Amino acid sequence: MKALVLSGGKGTRLRPITHTSAKQLVPIANKPILFYGLESLAAAGIKDVGIVVGETHESIKKSVGDGSSFGIRVTYIQQEAPLGLAHAVKISREFLGNDNFVMYLGDNLLKEGIINFVEEFSKSQAAAQILLTPVSNPQQFGVGVLRDGKVVKLIEKPKDPPSNLALVGVYLFTPAIHKMVATLKPSARGELEITDAIQALIDAGLEVRPHLVTGWWKDTGKLEDLLEANRLILSDIVSRTEGTVDAQSRLEGSVIIQKGARIENSTVRGPAIIGERTVIRNSFIGPYSAIYHDVTIEDSELEHSILLEHSKVSQIKRLSDSLIGQNVEIIQTHVKPTSYRFMLGDSSRVEIPK
Ligand code: G1P
Repeated sequence: MKALVLSGGKGTRLRPITHTSAKQLVPIANKPILFYGLESLAAAGIKDVGIVVGETHESIKKSVGDGSSFGIRVTYIQQEAPLGLAHAVKISREFLGNDNFVMYLGDNLLKEGIINFVEEFSKSQAAAQILLTPVSNPQQFGVGVLRDGKVVKLIEKPKDPPSNLALVGVYLFTPAIHKMVATLKPSARGELEITDAIQALIDAGLEVRPHLVTGWWKDTGKLEDLLEANRLILSDIVSRTEGTVDAQSRLEGSVIIQKGARIENSTVRGPAIIGERTVIRNSFIGPYSAIYHDVTIEDSELEHSILLEHSKVSQIKRLSDSLIGQNVEIIQTHVKPTSYRFMLGDSSRVEIPK
């Protein structure tokens, strides 16, 4: 069995972060989202992985490389434009050959992994197997209808959803899907929809098996979803200290201090993770914070936030619910006039309390 991981797309809902990096590389609990998916594939024994990349191909290739650090072999497949999930399958035809494959959307996080999902499919005669989970906003997903334990209908982003079962971004296919993909026409949003290709399998009388997600699942396209995924992952961490914590500092709850990090005269209240070489000085880091590598935080308080590498926070009280990009500085100055001074990238957002 092979895998096809989709890591294209523009990530418009995560601008400005995605102006310079891929949405699949935003770290959740200090690990890029995409890595969780690649690790699940490796854990399910899959070695041959095609990664479909778009505009952000350079950053993805730089962080994943040839896949050997995950125990997989990666083949990159360039998608010229984000023309849909089924389009990604179409351009990967040669890589996929006549093998069964897992299709994994690179911005999806699935707690339970995919081992059971893959085993169940291997034992079945089905043409495809999909993952479903109940959601409160089915209009924003592909939606499935089940009857007698079988999938009878699938609709992409229905205005009037026939059920609350959303299609999770992990699919299992036999080569039967290629024939259906070849006949697709672009949808209203101009994409070749994998949902339509699976519906075509059903229409042709082939079996599409449902599998319900038991743990949590997150599609991390938006800030709130990223923060929630960060909370969910941090909730399960086990404390570990590979950096230094001075005698004036306190670590409370589950806290990971990565290599070379220094905690000086500060309190870190977990669950939280502090990245490599990051310095926390005279500060309070509250629950659900993931501070990435080479960050400096001094004389500040922050919580429930994700900070990317080389950012700096100085004399700020108090930062929360934030996603801060690379090389960003948030600092207090004593320069007159007393005013807010910004240098913000395109699509940035600043919220100032009254
Ligand atoms: C895609 C699929 C949709 C699925 C979702 C899961 O949506 O088209 O059926 O429910 O992924 O993340 P998109 O992210 O392209 O809006």
